[in-house]
Amino acid sequence: MSLTVCLLASEAAPLSKTGGLADVSSALTKYLHAAGHDVRLFTPLYSSINRSKFPPQPVEGLQNMDVGVGLHSYVMSVMSTQMPGSTARIYLIDCPALYSRPTLYTADVDEHLRFLAFTRAVFICCQKMQWSPQILHCNDWHAAFAPLFLKAQYDWDRLFANTRSVLTIHNIGYQGTFNSSFIEDLALGPKNYLLHQDDLHAGRINPLRHGILYADAITTVSPTHAHEICTDQYGMGLQDSLRARGGALVGILNGVDYTEWDPRNDHYLPKHFDPDTLGVKAELKQQLLQRVGLQIAPKVPLAGVVSRLASQKGIDLMFESLPAVLEWRELGLLVLGSGDPPYEKFFAELQQSFPGRVVFRRGYDDELAHWIEAACDMFLMPSLYEPCGLNQMYSLRYGTVPIVRKTGGLADSVQHYDPATGQGTGVVFNDYNAEALEWGINTALDWYAEPERWRRIVRNGMERDFSWQRQGGLYVDLYQRLIA
Ligand code: ADP
Ligand code: GLC
Repeated sequence: MSLTVCLLASEAAPLSKTGGLADVSSALTKYLHAAGHDVRLFTPLYSSINRSKFPPQPVEGLQNMDVGVGLHSYVMSVMSTQMPGSTARIYLIDCPALYSRPTLYTADVDEHLRFLAFTRAVFICCQKMQWSPQILHCNDWHAAFAPLFLKAQYDWDRLFANTRSVLTIHNIGYQGTFNSSFIEDLALGPKNYLLHQDDLHAGRINPLRHGILYADAITTVSPTHAHEICTDQYGMGLQDSLRARGGALVGILNGVDYTEWDPRNDHYLPKHFDPDTLGVKAELKQQLLQRVGLQIAPKVPLAGVVSRLASQKGIDLMFESLPAVLEWRELGLLVLGSGDPPYEKFFAELQQSFPGRVVFRRGYDDELAHWIEAACDMFLMPSLYEPCGLNQMYSLRYGTVPIVRKTGGLADSVQHYDPATGQGTGVVFNDYNAEALEWGINTALDWYAEPERWRRIVRNGMERDFSWQRQGGLYVDLYQRLIA
């Protein structure tokens, strides 16, 4: 049965992206569309979106709409553009007053309003299109008030009588909390009692918490993380609300869009490879070394990092472990990322301490990210927490052996190699400390020194399949259960 699915996401690759949410919202849309469902992905039309590459076209009937957000009012228009690599269309909410800012996310005082307005606009679009979604699928805090609005403010509208809501938590570390003095922006009036009262008394309103309280189903992006976020260690203050929802919370591992991330057809690479043509990977490594100015010999292993530089990513563990390993062993390191200044400073200094062996590229560079996945020998991802993580799954596909900490989606996608059986796809360590990461890197270097063993690990990883064909079906099953 074909479904009508309204997806709300604050990022959509390749138009707007700071992390994996963008990859996932677009890939899920592509998957659902290809499977014959009527899926409409809504996202803000940020000023940073390249309009010559993705020309936005006005959607008839959705121009110059007045969108009220509490006491505020915005004029919004909806544009649509073609999703690259698909015939699906993306609906872009145009409102320069809110989305014309230097970055996708801000620390501005109206940050909550930017996404409340986005959420409101989607309801108004559905009404104006007279389109009745069976599923309203919200992602992260930015759209997390939609389930409450559905129940409290649109219950009168027969259009939404059969609409069920899903909240996917991609990153529980970001909850969008704002001061309760802005309560009127929610326009709940007499229904303010539906807000989380303890938070209100503490002077705050937490969007993500309300998604957890009111969505018909809650998902997060790996089974392990679904368990983790119910614990005090990983719940980031929301564990009680999550536990209270019991079986409404499930974990669905993200898929990988292999039309974008596959060494067999990667459009950024001059040459392609598969498990039988690993010589090409070695050639690409040589080209990458020259390109970024690394001066290690071809045989010296090269480790890569592509990451937002945030505490989530376990960069703190590298402060001690990387200098120690680099001091004693032959290893090159290429890091791409930007974020918290202390982490940027650490990598800049590491590059100075190990000239020709460490290169830090500060910034965001999609092409270099693909090259790092393709041409490095190993990939470091020692995350403190990782709801799913995409880079380790990309690494597996490109024969770049991931070194990961056993948490969230890393635990669900990388299997520690077992020399006794020859099974396994990477190095997995448990403890969140520098010694454990150092052990992980040293273990990988030891295995790398045995070419046959290394080839086996590489091939094991390249054979793994995390395609959306499989993972997308799990979302469809969930949607169908909800509307049954
Ligand atoms: P998260 O969403 O927590 O950042 P994921 O592993 O799920 O982590 O996804 C990160 C995505 O963002 C990947 O597609 C990765 O390649 C990309 N990415 C992260 N940092 C950069 C960067 N500096 N340049 C290019 N791509 C990046
Ligand atoms: C988040 C998580 C990451 C996940 C991504 C896409 O940003 O940090 O682990 O892969 O969302 O779901």
